[in-house]
Amino acid sequence: MHPKLAELEKTFRPSTLTQVFDPVLDQKKIDLWVKRDDLIHPIISGNKWRKLKYILNHALQNGAHTIISMGGAYSNHLHALAYVGKQLNLKTIGYIRGERPKKYSPTLLDLQQWGMVLIFVSRTDYRALRNYKRYDELPGIQAGEYWLPEGGATKLALKGVTEIVAEIDLDFNFLCVPCGTGTTLAGLIEASSDDHEIFGFSALKGGDFLTRDIERLNISSHLNWTVLLDYHFGGFAKYNEELLQFMENFTARHAIELEQVYTGKMFYGLYDLIRQDHFKAGQKIIAIHTGGLQGNRK
Ligand SMILES: Cc1ncc(COP(=O)(O)O)c(C=O)c1O
Repeated sequence: MHPKLAELEKTFRPSTLTQVFDPVLDQKKIDLWVKRDDLIHPIISGNKWRKLKYILNHALQNGAHTIISMGGAYSNHLHALAYVGKQLNLKTIGYIRGERPKKYSPTLLDLQQWGMVLIFVSRTDYRALRNYKRYDELPGIQAGEYWLPEGGATKLALKGVTEIVAEIDLDFNFLCVPCGTGTTLAGLIEASSDDHEIFGFSALKGGDFLTRDIERLNISSHLNWTVLLDYHFGGFAKYNEELLQFMENFTARHAIELEQVYTGKMFYGLYDLIRQDHFKAGQKIIAIHTGGLQGNRK
């Protein structure tokens, strides 16, 4: 590990495992635990650090001075990247989907404050950027610049994610995680054994592509995983009153904050599956809290 990254990681807090108790869990005799990756850092929280860690290591070892990536106006990925860039003295450039807004989101304001160069691109151009997967593949990329695809979706991201599973010191049956690009799920698949089953909850409508993308990232032949496509609430970042109410109750009961883009939908879906007897009495589920709480700011 590059010394600068090792130094940064020393400032992180541990991701604890917390059991949650609810009448429905008692009734169905299900043990539900939350892996609190949201606690590891106030900004580089959740799966962000897990995915970025070995990518940044590769970039630094290759002598990169600039990291270029892409995301939306509320992107947790760019938020973490801009912050880490500032900490590590790396220049960061973010391609942002859509027109420059008149009023910046709190995320964009942070990116700007941390020195990320923001380039607003049309939705068509944004989609085209998704074609570039390798760190040196972006057209026009210069020596010392490092391209990072949307959401940090590269094979190097998987290595950091496998550390989530290595930290779990409980026997369990199921792992659950929200999916955007599916990279975090791919890392969990990589790290799990055949007696574990893994559920990814798609945050997007039409997430069928996720299975293909995960297979592309995965070198493992582990087969016990499924992407659940029915808990997107109308599409990426869409939500309704029912979801907000669920999240509010969950937070009030367990003192664990959720956000409506990823973790709220995962927990909603998970409770729905529990109610529908998708799991057997006595089974143990671990849900990964992937952070992203910065997105709750208005
Ligand atoms: C909070 C949060 N949870 C889950 C995800 C989904 O992760 P992935 O893109 O690896 O599927 C993201 C996006 O990176 C995220 O910001």
